[in-house]
Amino acid sequence: MAMHSNQNYSLKSSNSFNIKASCSRIYFPSSLAELQQLPDLSAGNTSDKFYILGEGSNTLFVESQAPIIIQPKFNGISILEQDDRFVVTVGAAENWHDLVCFCLEQGIYGLENLALIPGSVGAAPVQNIGAYGVEFADFCQEIQWYEFASKTLQSLTKQACRFAYRDSIFKQERYNKGLITQVTFNFPKAWQANLSYAGLDILAKDSTAKQVMAQVIALRSSKLPDPKELPNAGSFFKNPIVNDADFAQLQQKYPKIPHYPQKNGEIKLAAGWLIDQAGLKGFRHGAVGVHQQQALVLVNYGSDLGADIISLAKYIQRKVAAKFSVSLIPEVRMITHKGERSFSSLSDSNPIEDINSIRGNRDD
Ligand code: EPU
Repeated sequence: MAMHSNQNYSLKSSNSFNIKASCSRIYFPSSLAELQQLPDLSAGNTSDKFYILGEGSNTLFVESQAPIIIQPKFNGISILEQDDRFVVTVGAAENWHDLVCFCLEQGIYGLENLALIPGSVGAAPVQNIGAYGVEFADFCQEIQWYEFASKTLQSLTKQACRFAYRDSIFKQERYNKGLITQVTFNFPKAWQANLSYAGLDILAKDSTAKQVMAQVIALRSSKLPDPKELPNAGSFFKNPIVNDADFAQLQQKYPKIPHYPQKNGEIKLAAGWLIDQAGLKGFRHGAVGVHQQQALVLVNYGSDLGADIISLAKYIQRKVAAKFSVSLIPEVRMITHKGERSFSSLSDSNPIEDINSIRGNRDD
């Protein structure tokens, strides 16, 4: 059977920022045979003219024209029970939060801290989603990955995926060389609630996984806007990681600066705090803005243009750099008609001017 595909496809309802964009072609492969029918996208200069889309909850279409899109449609969940663990294999197109709920209903625990994260299961490994002290990698056993060049499926162990903070091999060496079709999780039956993160520490030590999930949902709902009500893509920037010396200087100036020491001795800062301290929480410019409850989330009040979000993000980046000398790098993926681009390479056609400096000039 021929693979499902479409021409001149609107992506407005396929991105959680609700940006108006369309692509000349979208493919929905749901089997190995269909993957093998894809045109050779990784060859030569076409290599960056396509984008693999999950549910579009971490994607910003920067222009009204998007590149060719591949949206994998692999479904299904299977559970293998062993003496000491559950091995759960899940198609890439399954919804992440539905999987979390399904597991908990089956008595399979571990993903409760990752409840309510928007997006698909296949997207989770790409940026190694994480929240409330847990990350995807903690429960990953292996990833099934389709390689465009060889037209074969491969199995990648957790180690081979090289998971790090919001990073994996799928954003590095294997970027656009294939796509994730299936994820296999390993959930040890010996389960312990992870209550380390601020906000979960109020729970009793013997809380059940369902109680932890309820608290995670309550925390997220109080801070993070529901994309269906107020379009957004969660945290817009990554939390920046700085070295010891730079951190010492910052801490001297800002003793209250939130910080999280990393295993390698570097220090992770809270981008939301930096943006908040730069005076931008709740800032609004035209139809886009910074969320009132969480400054790391950019929200779209009704713009059709990805460029409006870019202008806002560049403004935030400038303000934070000016105040803290820290460079914020987006977590959200930037997609132009030619494919993905780095944030720094994008031009800002309509820069937001600094109100304070304009006022300053007038006062002179
Ligand atoms: N903060 C402020 N003002 C703000 C926002 C945050 O002062 O407007 C402070 C908080 O008080 C806290 C610190 O900054 O001291 C960190 O804030 P929070 O706990 O809300 O988490 P985050 O670092 O902003 C990260 C993830 C989220 C994840 C939460 C919870 C990143 C880029 N973001 O946010 O992930 O849900 O931790 O674990 O790592 C996402 O990636 O889309 C996402 C939502």
